[in-house]
Amino acid sequence: MQHDEANSQVQSVKRRFQHRSVLPDEVRAALAPRPGASFIDGTLGGGGHALALLGAAQPGGRLLGIDADPAALAAAHARLLDAGMPTMSYTLHHGRFGDMRAIAAAHGFAAVSGILLDLGVSSHQLDTPERGFSFSSDGPLDMRLDPTRGPTAADLVNGLPEQELADIIYRYGEERGSRRIARFIVERRVTAPFSSTAALASLVARAIGRGGRDKIHPATRTFQALRIAVNGELDQLEAALPQAVELLGPGGRLAVISFHSLEDRIVKLFFRAESGYGGSMNEQTPRLAIITKKPLEAAEAELAANPRSRSAKLRVAERLPAGPATI
Ligand SMILES: C[S@@+](CC[C@H](N)C(=O)[O-])C[C@H]1O[C@@H](n2cnc3c(N)ncnc32)[C@H](O)[C@@H]1O
Repeated sequence: MQHDEANSQVQSVKRRFQHRSVLPDEVRAALAPRPGASFIDGTLGGGGHALALLGAAQPGGRLLGIDADPAALAAAHARLLDAGMPTMSYTLHHGRFGDMRAIAAAHGFAAVSGILLDLGVSSHQLDTPERGFSFSSDGPLDMRLDPTRGPTAADLVNGLPEQELADIIYRYGEERGSRRIARFIVERRVTAPFSSTAALASLVARAIGRGGRDKIHPATRTFQALRIAVNGELDQLEAALPQAVELLGPGGRLAVISFHSLEDRIVKLFFRAESGYGGSMNEQTPRLAIITKKPLEAAEAELAANPRSRSAKLRVAERLPAGPATI
């Protein structure tokens, strides 16, 4: 392929994938990339954070980038190529960060300097109606981060028993109207199974009405809940955190950006338990030191430039050197 042609393909992938990384300065300060350092980015997305880390780790730095979404991997690859990163310096892997231990082992990454999890969906995924994440533009009721596997949101909405649907919407959406919404869904799907985001969004709006103190769309919590269930998001996070600790070298840092309270709580409690906070270690030697007593949030300038940063919370912990071996 001619250089110009390759270049224009790179430009077109980048144009099609829009995502502005949140808390870029804070992540960089937290993970303090130095030449020769190695990193794992478990949520590569458009590659914004990855590029900043890898760039600052040259010469000699290495990055393992993981994403469940092949479109994100392609976009990140284009971005790293375009920025002139040495191709030997990064490995991109289609998979889930809940399998980080095996993925890292397969690619020869261990005792790394930093691991980043920037959770949830990218703006690109949200803004692509065909992916089915959005209630504001119509699309198929899909919501899979990885379109190559697993049930879609339509499968759950059309197939789960009413009680299970209500539980998902309550637990993962913190939606008080969960039972009513589940009842409306089940009544309607008998005659007209759901296949589009717009149909579900308007049914939820009918079930719980608009107004009240909420400024958000009435379907916001239900959509969040279904997305979490479809992608097993909380299970993935719970699986990944202990693996990340094992993969860090002494002094290595784990940085996690979450976007809602359910995720942030999991990270907060894990960091506390691993740092011996409140005696929760049951005699075990602490493996982490908490760096951010309170989560970092976006400053005014970022809030103004990137509305998505509004709910972002960054927590950082550092891997302590292993204690003396006990015989
Ligand atoms: C907020 S975006 C990351 C953006 C990225 N940090 C950047 O600067 O462009 C989150 C990404 O994580 C991916 N993702 C979410 N859960 C995942 C999981 N369990 N395993 C792998 N990737 C996941 C999504 O597909 C999405 O591309």
